[in-house]
Amino acid sequence: MSSVLTIRGGVPLTGRVHVRGAKNLVPKAMVAALLGNEPSVLRNVPEIKDVEVVTSLLQLHGVTVEKDPVSGDLTLDPTDAKTASSTAIDAHAGDSRIPILLCGPLIHAIGEAFIPDLGGCKIGDRPIDFHLDVLRQFGAVVEKRPGGIHISAPKGLHGAKISLPYPSVGATEQVLLSATRAEGITELSGAATEPEIVDLIAVLQKMGAIISVQTDRTIRIEGVRDLGGYNHRALADRNESASWASAALVTRGDIFVEGASQRDMMTFLNTFRKVGGGMDIGDDGIRFYHRGGKLSPLVLETDVHPGFMTDWQQPLVVALTQAEGVSIVHETVYENRFGFTDALIRMGASIQVHRECLGSVPCRFGQRNFRHSAVISGPMQLKGTDIDVPDLRGGFSHLIAALAATGTSRVTGIDIINRGYERFTEKLAGLGADFDITAAK
Ligand code: EPZ
Repeated sequence: MSSVLTIRGGVPLTGRVHVRGAKNLVPKAMVAALLGNEPSVLRNVPEIKDVEVVTSLLQLHGVTVEKDPVSGDLTLDPTDAKTASSTAIDAHAGDSRIPILLCGPLIHAIGEAFIPDLGGCKIGDRPIDFHLDVLRQFGAVVEKRPGGIHISAPKGLHGAKISLPYPSVGATEQVLLSATRAEGITELSGAATEPEIVDLIAVLQKMGAIISVQTDRTIRIEGVRDLGGYNHRALADRNESASWASAALVTRGDIFVEGASQRDMMTFLNTFRKVGGGMDIGDDGIRFYHRGGKLSPLVLETDVHPGFMTDWQQPLVVALTQAEGVSIVHETVYENRFGFTDALIRMGASIQVHRECLGSVPCRFGQRNFRHSAVISGPMQLKGTDIDVPDLRGGFSHLIAALAATGTSRVTGIDIINRGYERFTEKLAGLGADFDITAAK
């Protein structure tokens, strides 16, 4: 049953939240367990929908997944992995993109995979051409079938020299999950090097994989026949941490984010300070707060790591609606990630979205009709309104805009937010937000 959040705005969020394992690592580490010949244990696992989707997909393929009722730690045992029916897989894929990463591990485990048509946030076309090219280079046979793609490798997977046209996180994970047990050496140039990628490499190394990250964004993998299990504590979710930081700015609040990692948020922290946010960086987390003065506008460009992460952009744009002056944001990772600004404009924000690359370098979307640059003028008082959540990060941005607005907002479609923000309504209540949850009629 979907729910409706009725938010009465104007209350600063103050208190502390606990952020656990990263949504963009945990499901991949779960898939990696399939490569092992013994059970694995994954710790610091958040209770989010993406973990539920991958749990049911793995169970469908004969992997036992046990969740510790107290800690939430997962024990995954792949020793009885088997094929699954495509209709069953289809039903379980949900709106996740993770199934595409099951290809390599399933081929190693059972010789084939069926991947249903993928979901994921509607922030762009979200193609999987890089993934399919990579699998073919490893020797897989890729066949389009009704409802999805069938992938097999009669002679097994062999190492390859691969160059990605763009440092895609997913395609890099596809290589890592396929190459570790492939025959021979794989060299991947143009790889993504996000903290979640490095954490996945740590997981695979614990299993016995031989992976090295060179200085020039090249990753080298020496295939091994067998891998063992792992015992790993997932890195903290830097995207959720940054979302709460922006929430503190937008609502003029003060939030201690337990678990936030300075090392993985360096670029965000610099930007947060330039906007005028206050922060105290500790060993067990970071306190983010509004210092009471004016917020400063800035010119921002999203990029792959170590640049400003595209998932940080949407909550921060809400903070920029409260800055004194004109800010410019050039989104270079996804072609259509400003749809969420429509609701902010209805709330009174002054935002124009443009086709031009309003940044230091032209990106892949320049002159291709994608409105991927935003100009935000502030400060503008936001007023409550009815909102239907478009995607995960845009949805969280709508929540914090409603929390800062005067008057009441009625927010629907909030179940999308459960995909990546663990127990977010409980956390909002703990921070003093004034809202009711009711079942949608
Ligand atoms: C991961 O998506 C994350 N999702 C995204 O987080 C994140 O924004 C993104 O990486 C970039 O850091 C998960 O890890 C589940 P990409 P992914 O492949 O792997 C193009 C969130 O809110 N591309 O790096 O799908 C693609 O269209 C989500 O937590 C191709 O063209 O991202 C995009 O323009 C949103 N062909 C660019 O690469 C391909 O085959 C980056 O995509 C694959 C990607």
